[in-house]
Amino acid sequence: MPKTLLDVDGLTVRFEVKRGSGWGKKSYLYAVDDISFEVKQGETLSIVGESGSGKTTAALAVARLVPAHSGTVMLDDGNVLEKQGEDLRQTRQKVQFIFQDPYSSLNPRKRADSIVREPLDNLSEKSEDEKTTIVAELFEAVGLRPEQMKLFPHQFSGGQRQRIGIARALATQPELIICDEPVSALDVAVQAQILNLLRKLQREYNLTYLFISHDLGVVQHMSDAIAVMYMGKIVEHADRISLFTSPRHPYTQALLSAVPTVDRTQRAKQKRILIPGDPPDPINLPKGCRFANRCPIAEAQCSQTEPELKDVGQGHKVACHLV
Ligand SMILES: Nc1ncnc2c1ncn2[C@@H]1O[C@H](COP(=O)(O)OP(=O)(O)OP(=O)(O)O)[C@@H](O)[C@H]1O
Ligand code: SF4
Ligand SMILES: [Mg+2]
Repeated sequence: MPKTLLDVDGLTVRFEVKRGSGWGKKSYLYAVDDISFEVKQGETLSIVGESGSGKTTAALAVARLVPAHSGTVMLDDGNVLEKQGEDLRQTRQKVQFIFQDPYSSLNPRKRADSIVREPLDNLSEKSEDEKTTIVAELFEAVGLRPEQMKLFPHQFSGGQRQRIGIARALATQPELIICDEPVSALDVAVQAQILNLLRKLQREYNLTYLFISHDLGVVQHMSDAIAVMYMGKIVEHADRISLFTSPRHPYTQALLSAVPTVDRTQRAKQKRILIPGDPPDPINLPKGCRFANRCPIAEAQCSQTEPELKDVGQGHKVACHLV
């Protein structure tokens, strides 16, 4: 059994928002509302959900890129949220980010090799020669050619730019890599290449991934476990096989029905469930279940009390009164 590398407990991130013109009290938007999950070393946990569900905010908080309101983020037995000074610098080496848009996340005026080298310059104490060797090795590891090192971002294709982003994320030999929609901006054919590269690198370097996507189809071959988020909450959390073969939450069932399956017999049986309506106002959340206004099986109790995330057997957790 691999050890737990990342253990997030009760993580909450809120943003102060201005509403109306009055002087009244402050309003908060709870982008991430008391979520807990863990990721085992060498494995991938995917966080999936619609736009605005809080995936990016949760990931940024884990990496200390936005401040958390409460909760703990344990990485290697230390709470990331409490690190300061030299400890924080070391944590930043251990946790790296791959962003959605490989173009806007790469400095257009820098050559590819200095982009990949940047985290080493900022965070590590390696010698200049060592850094040069590491950068050359990383270019090879991500499938770029040595003569491409001196090119600028605009001279690469989208997929190649994401390879630069991946090489940069690997530079400090991190333990945890957070991939925030790393293939959403790419063509489908290129998506598969980048996902394969991420899996190859995971095996080679025993990397742990927190993988974020709005698309269950993208994560189906990447994940060991999947957490489904809706309006700041985790509504279902299970290992990949349980989630894909027996989704329990109505929201997960709807998301899953939109994923094309390779198996044609299954596709014939599968009926696409459309989710009606819009999510509620995040600043003025309803009292009970946040999914109640869109849920096809909602009952009276659903708009009264908020369902808790409960284990329904073998670690499969669901937040729904009717499960
Ligand atoms: N800096 C901020 N200030 C105020 N509200 C914010 C801020 N960042 C995010 N939010 C709000 O927090 C909620 C969650 O946003 P977040 O970007 O984490 O969602 P997401 O699941 O990553 O969505 P997407 O799929 O569009 O990337 C949204 O309602 C968003 O408007
Ligand atoms: S608690 Fe009720 S409204 Fe919420 S998902 Fe379950 S059945 Fe639907
Ligand atoms: Mg996002």
